[in-house]
Amino acid sequence: MSDQANNGTLLLSLTRAARLVGVSRGALQKKIKNGDLPTFEGMVKPEDLLRVYPDTQLEDNSVMERFTLIKDEAFAHRVRERLLPEPEVLAERLAGMGRELAQTKALMERYKTITDWLYDKFNEFEKSGSLEIKDIMGPLKLWLRYELEKQAPSDYLETYLVKDSFLRLMTAHVRLLPGRHEFFVEGSDSILDAALRAGISLRYGCSNGNCGLCKARVVSGKTLPMRHSDYVFSEAEKIQVCVLLCSHTAVSDLEIEVTEVGGARDIPSQHIATRVKKIEHLSDDMALLYLQTPRTKRLQFFAGQSVTLETGNGAEAEYPVASCPCDDRNLHFHIRRAPGNRLSDFVFRKLKNGDIVEIDGPKGEFVLREDSTHSLIFLAHGTGFAPVKSLIENAMARDAAESMHLYWVAGEEGHYLNNLCRSWTDALDNFQYSPAVADAAGSAEALRQVVKDHPDLAGFDVYVAGPETFVQAAKKMLLENKFPEDQLMTSRVD
Ligand code: FES
Repeated sequence: MSDQANNGTLLLSLTRAARLVGVSRGALQKKIKNGDLPTFEGMVKPEDLLRVYPDTQLEDNSVMERFTLIKDEAFAHRVRERLLPEPEVLAERLAGMGRELAQTKALMERYKTITDWLYDKFNEFEKSGSLEIKDIMGPLKLWLRYELEKQAPSDYLETYLVKDSFLRLMTAHVRLLPGRHEFFVEGSDSILDAALRAGISLRYGCSNGNCGLCKARVVSGKTLPMRHSDYVFSEAEKIQVCVLLCSHTAVSDLEIEVTEVGGARDIPSQHIATRVKKIEHLSDDMALLYLQTPRTKRLQFFAGQSVTLETGNGAEAEYPVASCPCDDRNLHFHIRRAPGNRLSDFVFRKLKNGDIVEIDGPKGEFVLREDSTHSLIFLAHGTGFAPVKSLIENAMARDAAESMHLYWVAGEEGHYLNNLCRSWTDALDNFQYSPAVADAAGSAEALRQVVKDHPDLAGFDVYVAGPETFVQAAKKMLLENKFPEDQLMTSRVD
C-alpha cells in the first residue's frame, strides 16, 4: 500500500517496500529494530529506503522472481494459471491511478503557480524596495530556486516510483485489522487464497461461498465478487459491507476487519475423503504420496501439523503433512517403507492413482511461532524432513524470518529431496542447507555444528523433528548451551 502521511509525504507499507528493494520483510524489520530505518506508523519513506539500500538494482528483479517461483511451486499450479488480474479489475485500477495522477497534477500546478507568484513578488520587492529589503530579497530568491531544483526527483527515484506504480496495477495490498498482518492479492486470486499464500491463517470452511466462515468487514477499499454465492448476509452485515473472502478479489488496496486463527487449537478437526493424485517412488523404500481434496472441502491446517491417513485396507497411521497450508487442496506425504506398518505396506504394494484415502486432522502443535521475527534453525532427521519442509515453505510465504538454516540428518532413506533443498539455497540469499549422514557420529556432529555455526543461538527459534532419540539429543545440546526453552519446538517423527 502506498499512503500519504498528514504532510502529504509518500509512505510505503513494509511489504511493498521489501518487494521494491528485493529483500525480505524480516531484513527490513531488523533495520528498523536497529534504528537504521525510521518508520511512521509502521510505514517507511521511499527516500529513507533508498538511503538504507543505495545499491538496489531497481531494474533487476531476478532475486524476487526466483523467490516468487519457489513460493508458486509450494502453491501448486492454480495460481500460476491466473497470473493476470481480470480485465475489469485492471480497468478499475487504471482508472483509480488516473484519478490519482490528475489530482497530483492539479496539486503540482497549484504549487507552481504559488512559487511563480512568490518569485515575482521577491523580484518586485527587490526592485522597488530599500537597500535593506534588497539585501533580504536577493538571498530569498536564491534559496527558493535552490530548494525547487533540489526537490526535483532523481532518475533513481523516478524509476522507483514507476516500479511502485506497476506493482499497484498488478497487485492490491491488503491490511488486516486489528492484527495488522499484510499481504498482496495477485492476479485474480481470491482474498482468502492470497492470505493463505502469504502464510496467514484466517477462519474458513468450504472455500466456495457457502458456509460463511470466511466472512469479513471491508473497512476501506473495493472488492469484486468472483463467483456466485448463495450465502445470505444479515441486514446489519450488509450495512457494514461484509464480504466472503473466498469469493471476492481485491480491486484496490484494502483494509479488512477479520478474525485470524489464533493457534493450532483453533482449527476444527476435519474428516475428508481425498484421492490419490500421484505416488512417486524415489527408491525401493521411499515414496512421495500426493493427495488431493475435493474442490469444496479443503484441509485447513498449520504448517508442521499431522493427519491420520486411512487406506482402503482399513489401515491407518499418523503422518505429518509435508506441503504448505498455502495450498490446502494438494497435500504431500513422505512415506517410508516400514515393516509391520500396514499403511506403508499398502502404499507400496496396492495403492494407485484415483484411490480414496481418508484423512482426519489436523493434529499437533509443531507450528511456527506466531509473529516471531527470529531467524530460524530447522533440525530434521530422516522423514522428520516432512513437517520441516512444510514449515520452511510456510516461513518463506510469511517472509518474516531474517535467515533460515536447515540441517538434515539422513539415514538409509537418504536426502530424498536434496535437489529441492539445494534450489532453496540457490534462490534465497538468506537460506543455508547442511546435509549430514545419520550414523551415531554424524548426528552428534550435526548437532555440534549448529552451535559452531550459530554461537548466538538465543536469536533463533529452533524446530527439531525426527525420532525420539534425535529430538532428545538435540534438546539436551541446546539447553546445555543455554538456549531459551520457549524458542524450541519439537516433533517426534519415526
Ligand atoms: S470459506 Fe465458506 S464461504 Fe468462504
